[in-house]
Amino acid sequence: MPPSSVRIGLLGCGVVGQGLLKLLRERERLIRDSVGAPIQVSRVAVRDPGKRRECELSGIHVGTDAMAVAEASDVDLLVELAGGEAMLEPVRAALRRGIPVVTANKHILALHGEELERLAGESKTTIRCEASAGGGIPVLQALDHGLRTENFQLLVAILNGTTNFILSTMARDGRDFAEALAAAQTLGFAEADPTLDLSGQDTAQKLSILVRRAFRMDVAFSSIPTEGIIGMELEDLRQADRFGYTVKLLGIALRHPEGLDVRVHPAFIPKRYLLAAVRDEFNGIYLRGEATGSMLFYGKGAGANPTAQAVLGDVVVTARECVSGVKLLGTPPMRDPEQRLPLDQVRTKYYLRLLVEDRPGVLAQVAANLGATNVSVAQMFQAEGVRGEASITILTHHAKDKDVREAVAGIAKLPTTRKTPRAVRIFDI
Ligand code: NDP
Ligand code: HSE
Repeated sequence: MPPSSVRIGLLGCGVVGQGLLKLLRERERLIRDSVGAPIQVSRVAVRDPGKRRECELSGIHVGTDAMAVAEASDVDLLVELAGGEAMLEPVRAALRRGIPVVTANKHILALHGEELERLAGESKTTIRCEASAGGGIPVLQALDHGLRTENFQLLVAILNGTTNFILSTMARDGRDFAEALAAAQTLGFAEADPTLDLSGQDTAQKLSILVRRAFRMDVAFSSIPTEGIIGMELEDLRQADRFGYTVKLLGIALRHPEGLDVRVHPAFIPKRYLLAAVRDEFNGIYLRGEATGSMLFYGKGAGANPTAQAVLGDVVVTARECVSGVKLLGTPPMRDPEQRLPLDQVRTKYYLRLLVEDRPGVLAQVAANLGATNVSVAQMFQAEGVRGEASITILTHHAKDKDVREAVAGIAKLPTTRKTPRAVRIFDI
């Protein structure tokens, strides 16, 4: 006998949770027709039940105990929109008793995704997480379904709206890093403490979730070499522009014959790349598949409505399964573990910016350091500075990452070097 309604237990009623409640109310009829039964929210857990909220909670049991919601007998589907490690136990508890879970929690998925999917499989239920990577862009459903059997060679993505907004604002308006960050905070894109965004950790979490789907490989997010955009200067963006590039914080997964190369770092990308046109708080995910060729997913990676819509998509599919008793396809099965290509061994081009003493022999010392580790110069530009200094910009040919870093470390130690060199990879394949 199919259930007369699907009862949701909702953990968290903040930006996304309130967005979801609003969409559930506004789209009630369409949702009921798609699911085959109405969806009702039976319980909500928040930190502070006394807080004023922009949504209707009458008739819903509101408490503070997330675990009690996960274990309640009047919950058919757990929707976790509270975030953070504290939600791991309630999610585990629901899955253990066969209750499906929809979550936007990139943190627990990046750290415990493999375990949670196994738990769901053992309990013959599902865990879905469209909103956890790429926010409102339905890329995970595409990878789980239409692209499930595709073999991907490349995934390169802009996955963090805050840093993309900062880099876009610096490049377009000539504002420095601190000013652009302040603007992102004023507009509500950046967190009050934006460390996870700026350090690249947020991108690495999302990348590990995407790599799992696209490459069917379990890549622990803590194993992803990660650099953020802290220290990026306006002058670097100006130099990028001069040489025909734009700067983006990228999550990259690239299949080489020697293994899968997974990394997060800021990069110069050619202005002709589609991703170069992904500006401000928008996200973009570029995929290259064996059969499909190039694809770009583009849209809003954050915000109440786009994120809530992604959650609602998962909720509708999962609720439909509850009603029909027929499970759709979940996460693709994993491949046998594959070799990883360590960052040291990756061959990449680099942009280097040096501030050195402007006197005979200095350029030769710089060139000697590059030559000693087999790094070849592709282009160079020198500008005469003040106080007897010269600013040198170098673009290298492809070289082993480790060799370029060794050369840069050598240049940094030269007595004629006035400032720590800037080094940014160029992603141009
Ligand atoms: P908010 O901080 O706006 O809301 C979090 C909600 O969770 C609040 O209602 C809070 O209660 C509640 N909460 C927090 N801790 C607990 C707890 N221990 N027990 C019960 N309730 C708790 O977060 P968002 O809505 O922005 O984000 C929710 C999730 O969605 C996160 O995992 C986030 O990473 C993800 N996400 C968010 C996006 C966005 O644009 N905001 C985009 C993509 C993903 P109270 O209201 O009482 O404080
Ligand atoms: N802080 C994140 C961003 C929110 O800026 O993209 C969405 O995960």
